[in-house]
This record gives sequence, C-alpha cells and structure tokens, in this order.
Amino acid sequence: MDIQFVAAGAAVPAKCAVARIVFEGEAHTGAVAQAVAASRFTGGKGQTLDILAPQGTDAARLVLVGAGKREAFDAVGAENAAATAYNALKASGLEVLRVEGAGALAANAAFGVRLASYRFDRYRTKEPAEKKPSILRTEVAADDPDGTLTAFADFAALADAISFTRDLVSEPPNVLYPAEFARRAKALETLGLEVEILGEAEMMKLGMGSLLAVGQGSIRESQLVVMKWMGAADKSAQPIAFVGKGVCFDTGGISIKPAENMEDMKWDMGGAGTVAGVMHVLAGRKAKVNAIGILGLVENMPDGNSYRPGDVLTSMSGQTIEVVNTDAEGRLVLADALWYCQDRFKPKFMVDLATLTGAIIIALGNDLAGCYANNEELASNLLEAGKAEDEGLWRMPLPDAYNKQIDSMIADMKNTGGRPGGSITAALFLQRYVNNVPWAHLDIASTAWKKPSSVPTVPDGAVGFGVRLLNRMVRDKYEG
Ligand code: BES
Ligand code: MN
Ligand code: ZN
Repeated sequence: MDIQFVAAGAAVPAKCAVARIVFEGEAHTGAVAQAVAASRFTGGKGQTLDILAPQGTDAARLVLVGAGKREAFDAVGAENAAATAYNALKASGLEVLRVEGAGALAANAAFGVRLASYRFDRYRTKEPAEKKPSILRTEVAADDPDGTLTAFADFAALADAISFTRDLVSEPPNVLYPAEFARRAKALETLGLEVEILGEAEMMKLGMGSLLAVGQGSIRESQLVVMKWMGAADKSAQPIAFVGKGVCFDTGGISIKPAENMEDMKWDMGGAGTVAGVMHVLAGRKAKVNAIGILGLVENMPDGNSYRPGDVLTSMSGQTIEVVNTDAEGRLVLADALWYCQDRFKPKFMVDLATLTGAIIIALGNDLAGCYANNEELASNLLEAGKAEDEGLWRMPLPDAYNKQIDSMIADMKNTGGRPGGSITAALFLQRYVNNVPWAHLDIASTAWKKPSSVPTVPDGAVGFGVRLLNRMVRDKYEG
C-alpha cells in the first residue's frame, strides 16, 4: 500500500473513493445530509454509510465513517476509523482511497490503513483479479502534510514489523520450520541487527536438555536464535530482553492432539514471531535501547525418536523435569531459553511471549492475553502500554500454593499441573527458570490469531499481537 499525505481540500484524482471520518451528533449539509437522513447512520463508532455517485464532489464514491464523539477521538480511534474505511472500500474496484477528517491524527489514520490492508496471499495462484483488493494507494488529508509524512516514519517501521510477524505466523509449517524461521530472522541483519543461530550441537554443549527433548522427534533441527539490537548510546548498558516460544508445529508429540483444528498449531510459534517483530521495529526506527530477542524454535512431532511421557529431562539450569505430557512442550522450550537469556545477558528484565495454554482462552476469551509477572513496575508498564495500543492484557496471579500441583515423585518438577489453573501452573513452571530477574510472561494463546477478526486493523488470521504493545513500552519507558 502506497501512502501519501495531502492538504485538506486537495483535488480528488480519478477513480478515487473518499472516506470521510465524521462524529456523532454533528450536522451535515447538502446531499450528504439527505443521505444521512434516509439512513440509521448517526456517526457512532464503526458505522459506515456508502453514498454512490455523490453529487457536488469529484469522488467516485463517498463513504462516511462514524468515529463516535469528537472529544473522545484518539490515536486508536483514528486508526480504527481509517481501517474501517479501507475495509469498506477495498473491494470497490477503485484504486485510490482518500481519507479525510482525521485532522492532527492523520499519521495514525494512515497506520490504520497499513494494518488493515495486510494480506497473506502468497499461495493463492488462481484468485481472479476482481476478487483481489483494488485500492493501491491511500491519500490521507493532513493539516501539515510534510510534517505528517516525517512523523509517519516510525508508524511505517511499526507496520513493516507487524507485517513481518504476521507473515511468519501465517506461513504453513512445511515452509516455516525452525531453520527457515532462523534464516528469516538472520535476514534482518540488513536492518542493523546482529543475529546468531545456535544449532543442536551447540545447545547440547550448553546442556539444554529440556528444549532439545521437544524437538528430538522431528527431522527438522531445533534452533535457538539470538537477536541483538544495541541502539543505546552506551553499548555496554544493561539490555532488556524478549524471549519467544517458537513451536513451528505442535502435534502434541506422543501425547498427540485430536485431529480437529490441529492445523491451527502452525501458529504455535506466535510468541517467537512477535519477538522477531519487536526486534524488527526497534532496529527499523533505530530505538535508543539495547535489546536482546531470543527465539526457541522447535517442531513437536510423534516419532520413534520422540521424547516420552515418563522421561526425565535435565535443563540447562540443572533442574530436572519429569515429562507427564509431551503436549506441554512450550514451557520446556522456554525453560532453557529463559535460563540462557538471564545467564548470558543479565538483562534489566525479561518478557516472554508464548501461545502456551488452551486454559488462558477458557479464562480470558479471545480479546485479552494473560500477563504474569514477578515485578510490579514491569507489570504496570506492560498493562499501560497494552491499554494505549488496544492490545489488552489481564494480570494473572502466581500463587505459591499452586506450585504443589507441579511437584514430581522422581524429579524436581513435572511439566504439567493438570487441568485446574492450567495457565497459572504453566507460568509457575516458567518462574523457576528466571532466577529472580524481573520477568513477565504473556500467554498469548488467546490473542495470537483471530478467526474471524472483529478488529478493523486486524485482518482474519495472524494478529502480530504484542509488537505494538512492546514497541510502545520500550519507547515510553526504556529509551534514552
Ligand atoms: N500450543 C498449545 C496451547 C494452545 C492450545 C494454543 C490451543 C492455542 C490454542 C500448548 O503447547 C499445549 O498443548 N498446551 C496444553 C497443555 C496441557 C497438556 C497441560 C493445553 O493447553 O491443553
Ligand atoms: Mn502443546
Ligand atoms: Zn504448544
């Protein structure tokens, strides 16, 4: 999508659809007033009114987009209104979209169009042209077009990063296996990141018996990717760190999952996808911070060489784990990735992201991710950033008493605590591998994909959940 900023009132080109953001309770004039009067359109949030061949304008088509009360119009409101405009017109057959009415929030409106126009169509070879989106260019009316274009650079970097994450999450598991994911992370070195890839032999030397067990039934080699962005003035300043679960496909292993919806488990690398996206945006906008991104990449398969229920694993931390269910594999990957992260980088904090448990979906539904933390400041920074970016988090507890659910008769712990509080006991398991470093765990099984989506800036499928949130938290709290 080509984005431009134009002065309000600039001439409308040929084949252009105009979307006008309007507010609740405000009056209209002429043909628009007549159209509004003939409909139920009030300017409420999310409403649209399509006016074909409007009189007295050069627009081929005019869509009014409701944005609610003018006083409450904010960044997310502008993004959603412009995204709604794009969604209403993307199949119109017109090639240019003009968005007017965003005022000082024109850059946010353009960002909303960028997010809404994301599409993963790499494997559609027979789609007729008339089924493809027709809008190729969007002009956003701005009070100060040049200044807005400059301000848009950071939004464009963020949109690029979110698209990168969505692509990773959308790719099928035969294409995106651990080594291919690692290659795509490595390719981000062109943005100025430094990327190291550790294979199984190196992880064996480090003693990562927990992560390696998960991947041992797969013909695809497990990988640990270390991404570094050293953007702070002082390159030796303590970094912040993000760690992602990257299970490129989760069959459940020997504790195999039922067939229904198993294809969704290509998305089980969503946490690692988000971490890669966060590193992408930090480098893309040259953030003044030192940051580490760690991706634990494996494939969980049933095979003669698979790990078994009953196996006892020794993690890099030295703690032993009795496997009782090979489908509780994400925490085994993160146990070694988190331990390695704190051991090598001594970070200011670690935030891990993982599509870790079905239980978080039962607890929170599909619009909130679970946020566990051993540190109040980190938790409140995350929740605040989530609110501002409309990526909702809900704080979850880490009750010490529930630790007894993961006691094992023969090892230091077992890898699941049973059904009650399944997301909580998974988090308590992870907490044993953070060595008291300030840490938060985001269980994003509930939010990594939307099928279907009800958010205008998120097309059906991969969300890229957390990239916006973490980018904002870094920008507002950890840079400089
Ligand atoms: N990747 C799944 C969690 C998941 C389930 C994500 C559904 C998205 C949608 C994870 O590896 C898993 O299988 N968790 C089990 C844990 C159980 C065996 C203790 C679960 O949630 O059922
Ligand atoms: Mn699993
Ligand atoms: Zn999983």
